[in-house]
Amino acid sequence: MDLTGRVYAVSGGGSGIGRATVELLRSRGADVAALDRDRSRVEGVATACGALALVADVGDEEAVRAAFATLDERFGRLDGALSNAGIARVEGLLHTETAASWDEVIRVNLRGTFLFAREALARMVKGGRGSLVCTSSVVSTAAIGGGTNAYTASKGAITALVRQLAVDYGPMGIRINAVAPGATDTPLMWDTTPQDQVEPIRTIINGAVPMARLGSPLDVAHAVAWLLSDEAAYVTGAELLVDGGTNAKSTLPV
Ligand SMILES: NC(=O)c1ccc[n+]([C@@H]2O[C@H](COP(=O)([O-])OP(=O)(O)OC[C@H]3O[C@@H](n4cnc5c(N)ncnc54)[C@H](O)[C@@H]3O)[C@@H](O)[C@H]2O)c1
Repeated sequence: MDLTGRVYAVSGGGSGIGRATVELLRSRGADVAALDRDRSRVEGVATACGALALVADVGDEEAVRAAFATLDERFGRLDGALSNAGIARVEGLLHTETAASWDEVIRVNLRGTFLFAREALARMVKGGRGSLVCTSSVVSTAAIGGGTNAYTASKGAITALVRQLAVDYGPMGIRINAVAPGATDTPLMWDTTPQDQVEPIRTIINGAVPMARLGSPLDVAHAVAWLLSDEAAYVTGAELLVDGGTNAKSTLPV
């Protein structure tokens, strides 16, 4: 898949799934703007693969606008985008959750998707074509348990928003899809896990996933690159599971 001449923007491009997508798109010849709130991470990615580094918090309206203005100056067009920046918190059961924790997750995952997608879509409307992919999660359709309330709600909302946008922008030649990763081996996956629990939990996940392993960031990046490319020209409003079969599996013992 040759993407020479194409321009893409990726939020959360400094780490994990976002970083793998930036690097994969660059390796296919595309120009890529990697946006992240963590300057050192995103500048590291930019240096490694020749992407444009944009430092912005996706929840900050002015910062997102300014980042896209920099993209305009550098590339002058946008063919597609991955809205992917996200956070997960140990929230606890809902009746014990603080409003601050709820708001923080919704602000980054949902408001951030809105602000990033708005800027990206405005440019695709101008160009008369494009492809937007939003990172959802398997929890948009099946809860894992453990009190990730706002996180789960934000991902369900992202998947619903993708359907809304696909319907609204289809007539303009713009496709909008979600990718729904399962357990994927990134810093977000392990951020809240005590060090001595990482290997035991990895073993449990490997035993539960039909493909018998966690996903890699590159597994998800390949699905994103396909959705961004013309090979997915008739795919819109979809949620593509990249979960090694996790959500296909019933937990009933018989
Ligand atoms: N890792 C998993 O198991 C998994 C599973 C399902 C969905 N996801 C989703 O995949 C996406 C990427 O996560 P990841 O696993 O690669 O995590 P990650 O922590 O490796 O990367 C996330 C990146 O987003 C950036 N970021 C966080 N808040 C931001 C903000 N407000 N503004 C700009 N950048 C911000 C971080 O600095 C980081 O570089 C997230 O939306 C996450 O919910 C991950």
